[in-house]
Amino acid sequence: MSAPLVDQLAYALSGVGTRRRLVGVLAAVPLASALGSRFGNGAMAKGRRPRHAQPEIVGGHPVPQGELPFMVYYETGPQDTGVACGGSLVTPRHVLTAAHCTGPDGGHNPPFLTADYFVAIGEVNLDRLGQENIFGVVEVSRHPSWDPDVSQAFDVAVLELDRDVPAGIGTPVAFVGSGDDRFNGAGQPVVVSGWGRTSDGGNSSSVLLEADIAVVSDADCAAAYNRPGEFDPNSMICAGAPGRDSCQGDSGGPLFAQVKVGERIEKIKGKKKKGKKRKVKKVVVPIFENTQIGIVSFGQGCADPDFPGVYAEVSDPAINNFITGAIG
Ligand code: ARG
Repeated sequence: MSAPLVDQLAYALSGVGTRRRLVGVLAAVPLASALGSRFGNGAMAKGRRPRHAQPEIVGGHPVPQGELPFMVYYETGPQDTGVACGGSLVTPRHVLTAAHCTGPDGGHNPPFLTADYFVAIGEVNLDRLGQENIFGVVEVSRHPSWDPDVSQAFDVAVLELDRDVPAGIGTPVAFVGSGDDRFNGAGQPVVVSGWGRTSDGGNSSSVLLEADIAVVSDADCAAAYNRPGEFDPNSMICAGAPGRDSCQGDSGGPLFAQVKVGERIEKIKGKKKKGKKRKVKKVVVPIFENTQIGIVSFGQGCADPDFPGVYAEVSDPAINNFITGAIG
């Protein structure tokens, strides 16, 4: 793998090196303010965080509460080598994610301890997490063929949570079966979602974002990532769109195909203002049927027109069998 790519991976998540502080204060301080410390790099001091001027994953838009109930955010590892990643709930007890998120420096050994996982589910705004949104991890399974050194092939892991996620907090997403390549064709509209950086080298987002992108052919992706052993068409699938991409911190999150199947009305509480009744806004939330086809793995930069994002391919039999085995 080229040096820049390695950087991308290693950096992957260091955007968040504040996890220890975060965990240290969990018991004492409300989670919401504890999480504010994710921006402990000085770029965004607590309490002075600007509203998100460009609300993007890169080139995306905020996800309404409840629209993607399978989205998972987590931090893990010690403060100096810790990471923040995405994931997807695939059973009430299991999170699908990227193997490179499970250890320091792009996932190398030794793996992070299960006790170091801080998993958040069921709230699009990480500044509003409550105790009911927080889960622990009891077991981490990495794909046995994962190659952290050369190709990042089989960049897949499954986290077992410490308890079932109640249906009111999160619901699992369907994923394609072994060999099911229905959604793998070039140009297939797909969505990627996460709390990662909103530009190459930029800040991560405290609100969940999603971007509409499209599958890129294996041939085009192999032409972009053309060093020997860099791109594996069997275990990887690529996607992108002009100005849109996943980015650091989105790793492990899902790439999914989306079909709208209905709508529902959601009541959203406004801010409390002194002496006034809290306003309740009604919004129409589309109901989608989502099918996960990929896992955010790596990319050269973010939204670089010459380099699409690369995803672990869930329909690949070797990946699919691993997942079904790990959650079975
Ligand atoms: N490796 C990154 C992470 O750990 C994900 C990079 C995705 N990059 C991209 N251009 N799609 O968060």
